[in-house]
Amino acid sequence: MATFQAAPTLHPRLISRLHEARSRTDELFRLLPSGSFYDRPIAERHRMIFYLGHLEAFDWNLLSGPLDLAAHDAEFDKLFAFGIDPVGGGLPTDTPKDWPTVAQVEDYNQLVRSRLDEALGDFRALRSSASALVDGTLLHVAIEHRLMHAETIAYLLHNMPIERKKPQAGPAPDPRPAPEYRQVTIPAGVATLGRSRQEESFGWDNEFDAHQVHVPSFSIDVFPVTNAQYLKFVQAGGYNEAKYWAPEDWEWKQSKRLDHPYFWIRRSGSAASDPRTQWEYLGMFGATPLPPSWPVYVSHAEASAFARWAGRKLPTEAQWHRAAYGTPDGTERSHPWGETPPSESHGNFHHRRWDATPVDAHPLGASAFGVFDLLGNGWEWTSSAFDPFPGFQQFPFYPGYSANFFDGKHFAMKGGSARTDACMLRRSFRNWFQPHYPHIYATFRCVED
Ligand SMILES: [Fe+2]
Repeated sequence: MATFQAAPTLHPRLISRLHEARSRTDELFRLLPSGSFYDRPIAERHRMIFYLGHLEAFDWNLLSGPLDLAAHDAEFDKLFAFGIDPVGGGLPTDTPKDWPTVAQVEDYNQLVRSRLDEALGDFRALRSSASALVDGTLLHVAIEHRLMHAETIAYLLHNMPIERKKPQAGPAPDPRPAPEYRQVTIPAGVATLGRSRQEESFGWDNEFDAHQVHVPSFSIDVFPVTNAQYLKFVQAGGYNEAKYWAPEDWEWKQSKRLDHPYFWIRRSGSAASDPRTQWEYLGMFGATPLPPSWPVYVSHAEASAFARWAGRKLPTEAQWHRAAYGTPDGTERSHPWGETPPSESHGNFHHRRWDATPVDAHPLGASAFGVFDLLGNGWEWTSSAFDPFPGFQQFPFYPGYSANFFDGKHFAMKGGSARTDACMLRRSFRNWFQPHYPHIYATFRCVED
């Protein structure tokens, strides 16, 4: 009897992870009625239709060459790689008519998926001369790129009016009080940032190389800054006092006429500092009275102003590492809580919730120094510019991923949000944003030297 051997595939586990990641983003797009795909929830970003085609175009542009596949729609490959450039470098000016229909994009996506899957599942993948394909790096890039977009699509959806999304239950009121403010002292010690090239698991270019930083003793907030804490800054007139703001931050805040966090809604009272003002938090699917114990979501500019008002600072990336992964005996952990993989008991991450939880809701996720809520519930701003680590080398197949942002105008962020996939909770993972972008799930905590 003849025996048939299945064609060898490239890392079946990676291929099934790619399929899982596709389900994540498909689920998000299912929250949009077809009439909402041409909405642009954030002025600086693309219309939603771009993201519908972008994930497949990215995978195609990354993998088709190494898999020796000829293009079937070079126009879409390009359109959905970059979008339509704004004229004159300002805000995008394209109109819905400039884009293909949802059905055309869905057809393109289906064909990309089936062609890639077929090629990845047979000998072509293993015969490729691209070592980054054969060793799985390119699939990791495709998976994590898509999962990062699962987070950016979530905050784009968050920025859409409720009536533009398919209805879902809004956030339940959460009146639990914020925990009492406290700090913990972290003794002087070493923080290991980055990752070594000897490690077998995947990391993005900006995560290399591993290096040690000596961190002098400092105190850090046990919890991220809560809505209740931040409300005191607002009520104290913090948004009206230039002295708390860096000049460029003040200018930005004035031009946007911001007088409270972007995720808050003022219901009454004439000014943000008016004590009669009732505040609400704008959740993904509805507003709810401002939950005092949830982390405040703010831009780097607002976080820095709060810190100045409070007489404190934002942590450096190394201080954050030390508080999160250091231990009193001088060793370092893989996660704040230890070596066990991230689970629901450790924090609010991995697409489980649309909104935040109280900052003290996950005691099992606390670090060895007793610092809470480090992974999940909101990325945390640091005072460190997003700079390359010593030994940085860009990925040849994605040279601009990090290098385009080493401009001193982006700040390193650590942690993760409710919408961050658990695979990106590794110690070396770094996120970054510019300081004047209030739309993301970003919070902060303060330090004192
Ligand atoms: Fe992208």
